[in-house]
Amino acid sequence: MPIRVLLVGAGAIGAFYGSRLATAPNTLVSALCRSNFRAVKDNGFHVSSPKYGNSTFRPEYAFSNPGEARKAQIKWDYLLVATKALPDLSDDSELLEGLVGPETSIVLVQNGLGVEEPYRKRFPKATVLSAVTIASAAQPSHGKIQHNRWTRISIGPYLPHLDKEGTEESSEDEQANAKNSRFVELLREGGIEDAELYSHAGLQFVRWHKIAINAAMNPSSVLSGGSENQAMALDPELSRHLLAVMEEVLDTAPRVLGKPLPDKLASPQKILESTKKNTSGSKPSMQLDWAEGKRMELEVILGNPIRIAREKGIEMPRLQSMYALLKMAQENRQKQSKL
Ligand SMILES: NC(=O)c1ccc[n+]([C@@H]2O[C@H](COP(=O)([O-])OP(=O)(O)OC[C@H]3O[C@@H](n4cnc5c(N)ncnc54)[C@H](OP(=O)(O)O)[C@@H]3O)[C@@H](O)[C@H]2O)c1
Repeated sequence: MPIRVLLVGAGAIGAFYGSRLATAPNTLVSALCRSNFRAVKDNGFHVSSPKYGNSTFRPEYAFSNPGEARKAQIKWDYLLVATKALPDLSDDSELLEGLVGPETSIVLVQNGLGVEEPYRKRFPKATVLSAVTIASAAQPSHGKIQHNRWTRISIGPYLPHLDKEGTEESSEDEQANAKNSRFVELLREGGIEDAELYSHAGLQFVRWHKIAINAAMNPSSVLSGGSENQAMALDPELSRHLLAVMEEVLDTAPRVLGKPLPDKLASPQKILESTKKNTSGSKPSMQLDWAEGKRMELEVILGNPIRIAREKGIEMPRLQSMYALLKMAQENRQKQSKL
C-alpha cells in the first residue's frame, strides 16, 4: 500500500515539503487547497528551488474544500497541516474532521508555541507530530512555489503527558515515535537531507528557540516600519533590542520546560551575527502579512509564549510590550477597514 499524505494548507511551506515527499518512493501526496485550487487542479504546483531546480508537482488529488476531501474516503497516513496558525481567526483543527482515521498522524508544520493543543483536544487518540522549519519559501502567485533557501525541518511527537516527571513511555507513545521516525525518513528519501528526528521534549526546545528568532525579528520589523532583517541586526539600538528579546525567550524556556537548553542550539549572539551577513533583503513573514493587510501570527508567536510563561509565574516584559502594541494596531486597522 502506498503512503498517502494530504497537505492541509497547500501554500508556500506545505507545497514545498509536499513536492519533496512526492518524490519519495511509494508516497502519494494530495492537497486540500483554497484560493489556489483552480491553478493547482489545472497545472499542479510549479516549484523553483536553488537546491532542487525547477519541477512540477501534481498532487494525486486536489480538493477544493474539506467536504470534498471527506467524500473521497481515503485512509490518510499523514495530514500535513501548514496553514498560518491564527487561532484568533479560526480553529483549523476543524478542517481535519472526518479525515483522521486510526492510523493517521497529524503533522503540524507551523511557527509558534501551543499550536498542537487544538489538534490534541479535538483528536485525543491521534498521533500529533510537531514540526519546526527554518526553510524560506513563498507563493508569489497561485500554484507557483518559490523555495528561497534552507531546508531544515525538525520533527518530534507531541506527548505533553511525558512532561510530568517520572512518566514512563507507553506503547502508544512508542507508536508515535515510530510514526515520527517514518515521516522523517520519508522527507530524507524526498531529498530533505537535514530532516531532524527529535523526542517530544527536544522538539519543544526547538520551538522555543525558533520563537526567540521569530519574536525578535517579526514584531520588530512591523513596529520599525517594515525593516529588513539585516538592517535591524546592523542598527546599533535595534540590535540591542533583538538580542534582549532573544535572551528573554531563551532564559524563559528552560524555566518553563524544567530542563537546561541543549548546547547545540545557536546563541542569540550567533543568530545576530549571521543576520548581519544576510544580504538577501528578506523581511520577516509578519511584516509581509501586515503589509498585505493580512492577519499576523501574533497569538502563537507572542501571545502564547507570554501566557505559557505567566502560568509558571514568569513575565516576559519585552514580548508583552510588543504583543500589546501590535494586537491593538491590528484591532484598530480591522475597525477602520469596516468603517
Ligand atoms: N513561508 C516561510 O518561509 C515559512 C518559514 C518557516 C515557517 N513558516 C510557517 O509555516 C506556516 C505556513 O506558512 P506559509 O508561509 O506556507 O503560509 P501560506 O503561504 O500563506 O500558506 C498557507 C496556506 O494555507 C491555506 N489555508 C488557510 N486556511 C485554509 C483553509 N481553511 N482551507 C484550506 N486552505 C487553507 C492558504 O490558502 P489561501 O491562500 O486561500 O489563504 C494557503 O495556501 C506558518 O505557521 C509560518 O509561520 C513559514
